[in-house]
Amino acid sequence: MKSCKPLFSRALNAAPQRLHFAAHSHHLWPDVSFDAHMQAWNDAARFADRKWEHVFGEVIPAAQRHIADELHLPDASSVAFASNTHELVQRIFSARMKGEPIEVLTSDGEFHSFRRQLARWEEQGLVRRRTVACAPFETFTERYLAAVAEKEPDIAFVSHVMFQTGLRFDGIDALAARAKPDGMWAVIDGYHAFMAMPVDFGRAAKSAFYLAGGYKYAMAGEGAAFLHAPSGYGPRPVNTGWYAEFADIEASPKSEVGYSKDGMRFMGATFDPSGLYRFNAVRAMLAAERLDTKAVAARCGELRDKLETGIVSGKAGVLKEAQILRPNAAGPRARYLALRDPRALAWMSELLRNDVIVDARGDVLRIGIGLYHDDADIDTLCGKLARLTG
Ligand SMILES: Cc1ncc(COP(=O)(O)O)c(C=O)c1O
Repeated sequence: MKSCKPLFSRALNAAPQRLHFAAHSHHLWPDVSFDAHMQAWNDAARFADRKWEHVFGEVIPAAQRHIADELHLPDASSVAFASNTHELVQRIFSARMKGEPIEVLTSDGEFHSFRRQLARWEEQGLVRRRTVACAPFETFTERYLAAVAEKEPDIAFVSHVMFQTGLRFDGIDALAARAKPDGMWAVIDGYHAFMAMPVDFGRAAKSAFYLAGGYKYAMAGEGAAFLHAPSGYGPRPVNTGWYAEFADIEASPKSEVGYSKDGMRFMGATFDPSGLYRFNAVRAMLAAERLDTKAVAARCGELRDKLETGIVSGKAGVLKEAQILRPNAAGPRARYLALRDPRALAWMSELLRNDVIVDARGDVLRIGIGLYHDDADIDTLCGKLARLTG
C-alpha cells in the first residue's frame, strides 16, 4: 500500500509525536488545502468587493459539481452551502413549519445538533417527535420504514450512517419513494457517509434532501456544509438571507420575497468561502492521485480490519474486553471502529495524555482511520493501546 502521508506533510509535521486516530471527527487537512486557503485570501485581496462574483461564478459551481459527481445527483444546481448543517436544517424546517406543530420521525442515533434542536422545537410546541430506537441494529431500517408506513410524518429525518455506532440506514430509496412536496419530506443526514463510502443518491435525489459537510471524510475542514434540495420541495424557506435570491427576483410578484428556483433558495447570507476553496482543492488532489471514495474506503477498511484483528488477538491489551460494534450485517462499514465499554471515556483521556487522539461518545470509543494512516501506524497504535492501565 503506497503511503499517502506525503499528501499530509504539513498536518503531520505540525505535531510529529501525535498519533491522530480521530479522522472520523476532525480529519487532518491535506497540504493542498493550505494553498487553497491562501488562494481564498489572495482572491479577496485581488477581487475585493468583486470577490463574490468569483465565488458565485467559479468556486461554488465547482463545489456543486464535485458534490453532484460524488452523490450521482442529476443536476448540480440543486446544491446549496452554509457554514454548518445546523443552519441548513433550520432552513428546511422553516420551509415546512406553518403555525401548527409538525410531525417529525427520527431515530435515537442522531447527532447532537439535530437532537438538541428538535427537542427544543418540541418544548416550544413547534414539532411533535416520534423516535425509532437504533437498537436492535439488525431491524433498524425495517422498523424505521414501518413507522413511516404506520403514520407518515411531515418530515422523516434520519442519518445515513449513525455518528455513534456506525449503523447504516439502508432504506433511503424506499423512504424517498414515499416523499411528496405537499406530503412527507425525507431528510438524510449524510455526514458520516459522504466520501466515507460510495453513495449513489441518484434515484432518491428527485424527492429527498441530503445534508453533509467538509469537516470529516471530505478533508476540507469546517465552513463547507451543503444541502441537496429536491426541486419543488420548500420553494420559500422562512429562514432566508440575501444569497437566496441572487438567481431569481424573476417571477415573484413584487409583494412577495423572491427566491432562486434551484438549491440556492436554501442559502443564507455572507459567509467565509475558504472551506469551499479547500474542498475543491482536496477533490482535485484526489482526482490527480486517482483516489476515488471507493479506493479510499477500501484502503482505510484494510487498516480498520488490521486494527480489529489486533484488538481481538489481544495485541491492543485491555481493548480486547470491549465489545466491538458491528452494526451492519453486510455492505460498506463506517470509517471508524466503535468499541463499547464503560471505560471508554477513561481510555480516551489516558490516550490523550499520551498524544494518541481518539474520541468517545458515552460508552463508545471511536477510532477513526484516514488516508494519512499506514500499516506501521496501526502497529504503533496497538502498542500504545496495550499500555492502557484502566
Ligand atoms: C451525523 C452528523 N451530522 C452532523 C454533524 C455536524 O453538525 P453541524 O454541521 O451542525 O456542526 C456531525 C458532526 O460530528 C455528525 O456526526
